[in-house]
Amino acid sequence: MVEFSRRKALISAGGLAALGALVATAPAQARALVGWDWSPRNSVAGRGAGTDPAYVWDPEGDPLLSSLFDRGVIPKVNELLWNWERNDQPLPDGLPADLRDFMEHARQLPPWADHEKLERAAEFNKSRGLYLNLCNGPGGGILATAIPKEARAVYHSAGGADMEDRVAKTSLFGFAVGSLNAYRPDGKCIVECVKTRLVHAAVRHLLPQSPHWKAGTDEEIPISQEDMLVTWHTLPTFAMRKMREWEVPISDDDAEAYLHLWQVTGHMLGIADEYIPATWDAAYAQSDLILARNMGPTWEGVKLTDILLGQLAEQTSPASISRPLCNALARYLVGDQAADWDGIQHEPVWDPVVREAWPLLVKFREGLVPLPMVPEVAWTIDEALRQYILFYLTKGEETKIEIPTHNRPE
Ligand code: HEM
Repeated sequence: MVEFSRRKALISAGGLAALGALVATAPAQARALVGWDWSPRNSVAGRGAGTDPAYVWDPEGDPLLSSLFDRGVIPKVNELLWNWERNDQPLPDGLPADLRDFMEHARQLPPWADHEKLERAAEFNKSRGLYLNLCNGPGGGILATAIPKEARAVYHSAGGADMEDRVAKTSLFGFAVGSLNAYRPDGKCIVECVKTRLVHAAVRHLLPQSPHWKAGTDEEIPISQEDMLVTWHTLPTFAMRKMREWEVPISDDDAEAYLHLWQVTGHMLGIADEYIPATWDAAYAQSDLILARNMGPTWEGVKLTDILLGQLAEQTSPASISRPLCNALARYLVGDQAADWDGIQHEPVWDPVVREAWPLLVKFREGLVPLPMVPEVAWTIDEALRQYILFYLTKGEETKIEIPTHNRPE
């Protein structure tokens, strides 16, 4: 919401003018302006410097990726990493030594990872797959377009020009996190996280060279640790809040396990432990602190939303109802304010229908109401979601996460 000028904060903060620095300790003045009021005591690390995460990026990954670009080796690296797919798979021969060292370190699970909780989370993902796919796929996707910094970064990066491929790549990550073997040796989560961390470091190198990205932003470097946390909250925190709202029965152990899965995933994506919430209460507090102030409208977000909803509608039949239904589903999921920022059309017929039918469908699935109470249209929504998930499962098989070599051609 608040389009606060970080750049001005940095400049007014004097000593921070060393903008090339990847990690900067924000002086009190800047921190007071931006407002990072979340104690590292609430994090999985339990302690930390408390540095404002708006001024922290990826101190190990970013200089490495810049150097790989300077050496012109990214295409070769992508070629070598193409078949690196399983958590337990050794890295391919031929990688530059500094990249290999980084990846060997980045692929290690944190010492606090708890395998029992990860296994429990996998079961939870299986039993609650439909809701989680809905919240983390279309829900998180449409929310992200109402986050100006993310919408601009995505639009002006290479992937913004081919959203179908981009969503398919992001789905690879989503399905890896949600799969039964996510963090087992034969799973893929570690691989997708490490590749994504490399992609983000590449984006931090590339986007500042895009005049189109620069024209619409006051940031010097994209994807700060705060930005990562904001997106993180559009995933597990948003999903948990939605499931609670729909009265999905969730045991405390399941809730804790699901949080743990995302704590580990946050760490593997390069979020520093001192920012990763230790409990759901800490997560909700952090989300309340940073999510709303990082949301708002952009023309890039409106365009991306239109493309995303068009894709969702293509997977739904019959065509005559598909787009209005998808608009209504998106509005229901993300709420009126984000939907308006994203330019999602109001659907006088479908908006009230989805509002009424979805909670009943959930209650029926959870054995809380009998079938006759579920309006017929609920099955249209249910089927549309299945088709959507299947589409991206299939699409994902055709693509892999790769380090971008350029920005969006504009
Ligand atoms: C790429 C996930 C945060 C911007 C990706 C990819 C994944 C991903 C899986 C690889 C797919 C692809 O290359 O298209 C995540 C997750 C995040 C997060 C799980 C946080 C928990 C962010 C944030 C921004 C961002 C905060 C921007 C402010 C991008 C961009 C790309 C990308 C620009 C590359 C698109 C391209 O290929 O050109 N992200 N992301 N991400 N992400 Fe993120």
